[in-house]
Amino acid sequence: MRTVTMMLIAATWLVVGCAGDDATPEPVGGPMSAVVQLPDPEYDGDLSLEATISARRSVREWGPEAVTLDELGQLLWAAQGITAEWGGRSAPSAGGTYPLEMYALASKVDGLEPGVYRYRPHDHQLVPTIDGDRRDDLAEVSLGQASVGTAPLNLVVTAVPERTAEQYGGRAERYVAMEAGHVAQNVALQAVSLGLGSVPIGAFTDDEAARLLDLSDGEVVLYILPIGPPVSR
Ligand SMILES: Cc1cc2nc3c(=O)[nH]c(=O)nc-3n(C[C@H](O)[C@H](O)[C@H](O)COP(=O)(O)O)c2cc1C
Repeated sequence: MRTVTMMLIAATWLVVGCAGDDATPEPVGGPMSAVVQLPDPEYDGDLSLEATISARRSVREWGPEAVTLDELGQLLWAAQGITAEWGGRSAPSAGGTYPLEMYALASKVDGLEPGVYRYRPHDHQLVPTIDGDRRDDLAEVSLGQASVGTAPLNLVVTAVPERTAEQYGGRAERYVAMEAGHVAQNVALQAVSLGLGSVPIGAFTDDEAARLLDLSDGEVVLYILPIGPPVSR
């Protein structure tokens, strides 16, 4: 009996689908109308995992160089990229409910119009959602933090908690926050491995951040991750 119960509990942790991509909005019109195919990620960086962990520090000032499209693709792959044929991703997810979404606020990314883009993990693509450089607005909703307002790239982690709540009820809020932590650490380590820096930003006004990204009801901003070349590079 105990074994059967354990198996049932374990079964609820199996993948239940590939939540996320279905909700991806249509691209905006104008110069940003095209979906952007990201370059394939690399799977064998030069730095050891231990050296990468040792080198990670929060970075808040950026050098003048742009982030490349290769680097952006690599960072998004580290955040939520597909790493298994069944749809498993780079970061774990409670019951495979995948409540998280990734947005890129590109301000200075080579080969990319400044704007807001939503990541589509299954196609490794970006869907443009809002045009123009929005980092000043993002800094404003982040209590004026200069690390946000000056970064060539800000990644934003959002969540649709209901995807997880359908399966786990009141535990979902905790699970979703845990998942955002996994993602933020993956991004921070991937940034180091690329020779970039980042800082996790938790201080922002929730409603204003959601409005800025034009999120639907039920989608919330969890983390802002400014990324760029460290000033000492
Ligand atoms: C949940 C969380 C929220 C944070 N929010 C901010 C923030 O809003 N602004 C900021 O500059 N740093 C923020 N940080 C970064 C911390 O200040 C930083 O991690 C800490 O000073 C330790 O330094 P280290 O990251 O270099 O190890 C945050 C870190 C965490 C984990």
